[in-house]
Amino acid sequence: MLIKSAEFTISSARVEQCPKGDLPEFAFIGRSNVGKSSLINMLTGRDHLAKTSSTPGKTILINHFLINGDWYLVDLPGYGYAKRGQKQRDELQRMITGYILRREQMMNLFLLIDSRHEPQRIDMEFIEWLGENGIPFSIVFTKTDKLSNGKLTANIKHYLDELSKQWEELPPHFITSSETRLGKEELLGYIDDIIKM
Ligand code: GTP
Ligand code: MG
Repeated sequence: MLIKSAEFTISSARVEQCPKGDLPEFAFIGRSNVGKSSLINMLTGRDHLAKTSSTPGKTILINHFLINGDWYLVDLPGYGYAKRGQKQRDELQRMITGYILRREQMMNLFLLIDSRHEPQRIDMEFIEWLGENGIPFSIVFTKTDKLSNGKLTANIKHYLDELSKQWEELPPHFITSSETRLGKEELLGYIDDIIKM
């Protein structure tokens, strides 16, 4: 799919403030610092569309970006950033779960996982919660440029094996790097297929 235009639309603190209408949208979620905003920039080919930062906790609102005038990419705040106060963490949690459960035009949630790490409990619990609530999602392994090919293959196999213990059928998964643009065509093709369905 060709990205002809990508523009910031609005930042919302609550799902009620998100854009009206019924354009389809695709959202990105995952632990703080996993690379959500960077992935949106990589997919759109706009380096500064979504704000990124090397310190966790950069994105604190629901950000809508209108693509080609007819669908949205949505950048969500990360979860699990320990240095936030409990109150702000609870607020972000409410914002995220409210969006995921109530935003009907959200066609697919991309759950980002850092390919360098062992499966983390917080992500496993989140995946379980998505399943319980029937949310359509897929897994996106990020930062793969930081690993050798051998280590990457082993880590992904290990991750999927762990998931298989809970899931009969695994969700689709993508292997990406915002540095090398690995996975760009696959992700955009997947989105395109869903839009055309
Ligand atoms: P929050 O908004 O804080 O939840 O973080 P985020 O998930 O949006 O992460 P962000 O895109 O801001 O990236 C965090 C850091 O990881 C930045 O320093 C990025 O440059 C770096 N990063 C993101 N993706 C990649 C990648 O594919 N490869 C490498 N090497 N670094 C990456
Ligand atoms: Mg971000």
